Amino acid sequence: MVTPVQPNREPVYQKLANSLEGMIRERSLRPGDRVPSVRQFSAQQRVSVPTALQAYATLETRGLIEARPKSGFYVRPKQANATPEPKGPANTPKITRFAKTDPFETLLADHSNSKLVPLGAALPSGTLLPGIKLARTMAAISRKLGADSIHYDITPGSEALRHEIARRSLEWGCTLKAEDFIVTVGATEAVSLALQVTCEPGDTVVVESPTYFGFARMLRELKLKALPVPVDSATGIDLDALQKALSRNQVSACLLIPNFHNPVGCAMPDERKKQLVQLLSTRGVPIIEDDIYGDMQHQGSRPRCLKAFDPHDSVILCSSYSKTLAPGYRVGYIAAGRWHSQVAALKRVTTLCGPTLPALAVAEFLRNGGYDRYLRSVRQAYRHQVEQMGKPSWNAFPKESACRARRADFCSGANCPPG
Ligand SMILES: Cc1ncc(COP(=O)(O)O)c(C=O)c1O
Repeated sequence: MVTPVQPNREPVYQKLANSLEGMIRERSLRPGDRVPSVRQFSAQQRVSVPTALQAYATLETRGLIEARPKSGFYVRPKQANATPEPKGPANTPKITRFAKTDPFETLLADHSNSKLVPLGAALPSGTLLPGIKLARTMAAISRKLGADSIHYDITPGSEALRHEIARRSLEWGCTLKAEDFIVTVGATEAVSLALQVTCEPGDTVVVESPTYFGFARMLRELKLKALPVPVDSATGIDLDALQKALSRNQVSACLLIPNFHNPVGCAMPDERKKQLVQLLSTRGVPIIEDDIYGDMQHQGSRPRCLKAFDPHDSVILCSSYSKTLAPGYRVGYIAAGRWHSQVAALKRVTTLCGPTLPALAVAEFLRNGGYDRYLRSVRQAYRHQVEQMGKPSWNAFPKESACRARRADFCSGANCPPG
């Protein structure tokens, strides 16, 4: 039972929150337990519903309980002590040499090694992806279109797909139109095209440190230099360090993953996104935004893109459905703004266009609500997995996977476990 509330100067809702907190700490209420509904709690404690609600809101802020849609309030699983923030590069960012060894092949090989949890590469498990539904959609489209389904999907790519992506852009805080997009072969092609239209070989590109290992390989192959700037696990790229980097180096572009960064996982708060775009656009530095994980929030609303804070058309938005639907379909897109024609021309001479049927299948899945339904369920699954990983028992996790994940980035490796 919750201790009865005594009248004193402490607000009633806070007293209630403190007693419930005591029960959670003493494990009378355990992780995963459902706590009484707000109405039940208000009746039990003889307080008004708003007071009971405020007590629950206080506990939510303290990270002790959580609301689950259509289900009620639950005690949150206990998280292991947070891993310390990785030490980024020195205070003043310096252009980095690429390592001689390339982790790409090892990381992909790890994915097929059942003895390793493939934490090094962000490859979604096939069991969580809607493969069968997509295959059925593709088969139905193929039957309907017959011979027409094997034509080239001429750049800028499927109108139906670009229309659906444009419709979704409202959710990212943008108002993009179908004609603003070019369909690409995954986010990889989108980012590569963006780098090629904004930089010349030998130019310098700001990247987050750590960043997605594929970017290191891409910059190296395009003969670009990397200028790593530390990323904070709560607030994203360090804006002070970025400012220093910009004042000491001639930078041609800035390549960032502001939403659910790989590998750090952070989503940059809106206010900082605004400051970042302002800082770079006033200096005339194009921003290449990789939003591949933007649809994968575990709760609350979808985070906005940098492109939503871009009045001067400085942001090139790149993304794909590789993480949310089908990595093998290779369906991605780019909204390149003032670089649109250059990107289209370059794409025509490199891949000409993307595969027709996967683009149409994704377009149909977006149109008929399949994607939104799927996102609702997979977000829950990922959220559950993250909770499991955060449990203290994972402290004994094999060090090798973590280390391989870290070796792939631009970090000094100072915090890597040995091995
Ligand atoms: C940040 C980021 N961008 C791009 C990619 C590759 O995307 P795609 O398969 O659509 O080319 C990955 C894959 O892990 C990634 O993590």
